Amino acid sequence: MIRASEAARVRLPTSAGEFEARAFEVGGGLVYLTLLRGDVADGQPVLTRVHSECLTGDALGSLRCDCGVQLHAALEAIAREGRGVLIYATGHEGRGIGLVNKLRAYQEQERGADTVDANLRLGLPADRRSYAEAAAVLTALGIRSVRLLTNNPRKADGLAAAGIRVEEVVPLVTTATAHNGQYLRTKRDRMGHIDPAGAPLAEVAERPVDVSSLLGAVRPRADRPFVLVTYVQTLDGRIAARPDAPVATAAGAAAWRRLAHALRAACDAVLVGSGTVLAGDPELTVRLVPGPSPLRVVLDSRLRTPLTARVLNGAAPTLVVTAGRDGTRAKREELVARNVGVRLVEPAPVGVDLHATLRALRADGVGSVLVEGGAGVIASMLAAGVVDRLVATIAPRIAGAAGLALTNRAVHPVGDDVLLAFDVAPAST
Ligand SMILES: NC(=O)c1ccc[n+]([C@@H]2O[C@H](COP(=O)([O-])OP(=O)(O)OC[C@H]3O[C@@H](n4cnc5c(N)ncnc54)[C@H](OP(=O)(O)O)[C@@H]3O)[C@@H](O)[C@H]2O)c1
Repeated sequence: MIRASEAARVRLPTSAGEFEARAFEVGGGLVYLTLLRGDVADGQPVLTRVHSECLTGDALGSLRCDCGVQLHAALEAIAREGRGVLIYATGHEGRGIGLVNKLRAYQEQERGADTVDANLRLGLPADRRSYAEAAAVLTALGIRSVRLLTNNPRKADGLAAAGIRVEEVVPLVTTATAHNGQYLRTKRDRMGHIDPAGAPLAEVAERPVDVSSLLGAVRPRADRPFVLVTYVQTLDGRIAARPDAPVATAAGAAAWRRLAHALRAACDAVLVGSGTVLAGDPELTVRLVPGPSPLRVVLDSRLRTPLTARVLNGAAPTLVVTAGRDGTRAKREELVARNVGVRLVEPAPVGVDLHATLRALRADGVGSVLVEGGAGVIASMLAAGVVDRLVATIAPRIAGAAGLALTNRAVHPVGDDVLLAFDVAPAST
């Protein structure tokens, strides 16, 4: 019988609000940290996350896994509910094989193994975790039954085997990134995890979206990142004046925005030209799906971006790529003082040199860039031959004929073409 004894108790303010932290020592000298909210010992099922320690994902923001995203999503879910517990299980690093072995398993993955085979190649089990200690901690907290925040059915089974009633499994869906999509799919296919990479496109309005088919095979080159261009065009083939809300219905627009955020979360950087910043003041962060915000990059040879622009706020890192033209030094210094990165590259006939920009991003470790516009930057990128993939949204609108409503859509892929048909009527009818 494993015993858990409380070793320390303290108030812990976090970005998800204030929790009571209690540390427990369990058999074998492991420390389990619990973050509690509300009365958890009243006999009712408690919203519970048993989170396996992952130094690289939780503390360092590694995108090889989705641990950090799940950790924060769980804390926020508990804070929203006003009652629950997060148990942080030390000793669970790398599904129980330890930090060094986890890094060795990453090396095996770079040689082609998936996350399960990587462990097996090292002579280690795919999953060595035991949940008996977590169950002992729950018992010490007076918790007998839980609603478990997890995508991992083994975790629910492990707690149940140790005497905790699992009333419900509450999935923690995360948005796949270019770095962890394969890992999440392996966990789903080989370890029975609940669809961790999100729902298929049809369900985009309700849940995070799996954008892997839109991303394609993300293959950064030695001299530049993988470049994915996305834009919204009208039915008559013009880049829409505003990149947002391409569809007529509110539900459709909300679904599309979530998809756009999932694409952002999937990439290391999101890039726009200064024209897009001046026209729409986008923030370019990930807010509508659970996923990391990418590095925000603005191409701005004349530093026209206002210091009040949302893209310069502290919500995510930002890099302004500029050409060091005369008269811009004071503004460059002002940006640096606000923790905005400033990179000087050679000027081009329009704006900054794209090859130099992409080379610099690659040298900074950026493997994938999502170009969100506008028309000027997209046209330059295509002309420079630095685009790997296009994601085009066709809005049911005709530029210059806003008075028309296009409804009753039909879509026909024919060979490499996509045929679209709509009923056309005056918008008022
Ligand atoms: N439909 C969509 O999907 C979509 C998406 C985004 C934006 N938009 C819309 O597009 C409009 C803005 O279009 P835009 O063409 O003015 O904006 P843009 O492409 O975002 O910005 C163009 C500016 O970027 C700078 N730039 C720096 N390096 C460049 C390079 N190598 N090539 C091209 N430009 C470079 C140039 O300014 P400097 O010379 O000062 O450096 C240039 O004037 C807005 O109405 C916006 O809402 C639509």
